[in-house]
Amino acid sequence: MHSPDDAEHLKRAAAAAAVEEVRDGMIVGLGTGSTAAHVVQLLGARVAAGLDIAAVATSRATAAAARTAGIRLLVPDERTAIDLCIDGVDEIDPRLRAIKGGGGAMLLEKVVATLARRNIAIADASKQVERLGARAVPVEILPAARGLVARELSRLGGTADLRLRGGDAWVTDAGHHILDARFPDLADPSPLAAALSAIPGALGHGLFLTEIDALYVAGSDGVTRQKRPIDE
Ligand code: A5P
Repeated sequence: MHSPDDAEHLKRAAAAAAVEEVRDGMIVGLGTGSTAAHVVQLLGARVAAGLDIAAVATSRATAAAARTAGIRLLVPDERTAIDLCIDGVDEIDPRLRAIKGGGGAMLLEKVVATLARRNIAIADASKQVERLGARAVPVEILPAARGLVARELSRLGGTADLRLRGGDAWVTDAGHHILDARFPDLADPSPLAAALSAIPGALGHGLFLTEIDALYVAGSDGVTRQKRPIDE
């Protein structure tokens, strides 16, 4: 078990390894969460030292941190080519399939990841799992569709809890709510991801099964880089 200080140290080490892939002229997708926050700080230091990049943020919190760090931000349009996106994960399996959205930003995280030519996940070793599913899969919902989405999640074998903050529904950056859905078996998450994407009023979900190209994971032995295995 790592202490909180150790965990931060490992997150920063993974972030630092990924940030080394950033080059002059790139447009960089900036993830959300405590691991991605290290990327913003480390990139800000490189920008202060002369690195010439622009970035697309995946949340208001990340945008605010990027501004503070002196990183130029873009709002993506149809011409924006994001070269590289670096983001954290909540769980990641050996095939680099992940659950994201613990921080509630998975909707824009997936948009940015999909726009990016290359996606790097960064994590401390505690995020690695043999099989996804110990954590809930966050589903961003239109508030008015809560009953419908909860019913469909139950039909898919899951149980859904509305994410709360201070007793009220958690409100995402886009003004939506989140159902955290637990499933007894995520051995084959692809059909579930497709089914979640098809529920009316479910606007996005935290299963990232095809997006991640590489993982930098930091453990007591240092940082390891893993490429996505060829999908069977
Ligand atoms: C934000 O919505 C999430 O996808 C985060 O990227 C993910 O939860 C990892 O966050 P931490 O780095 O804070 O664990």
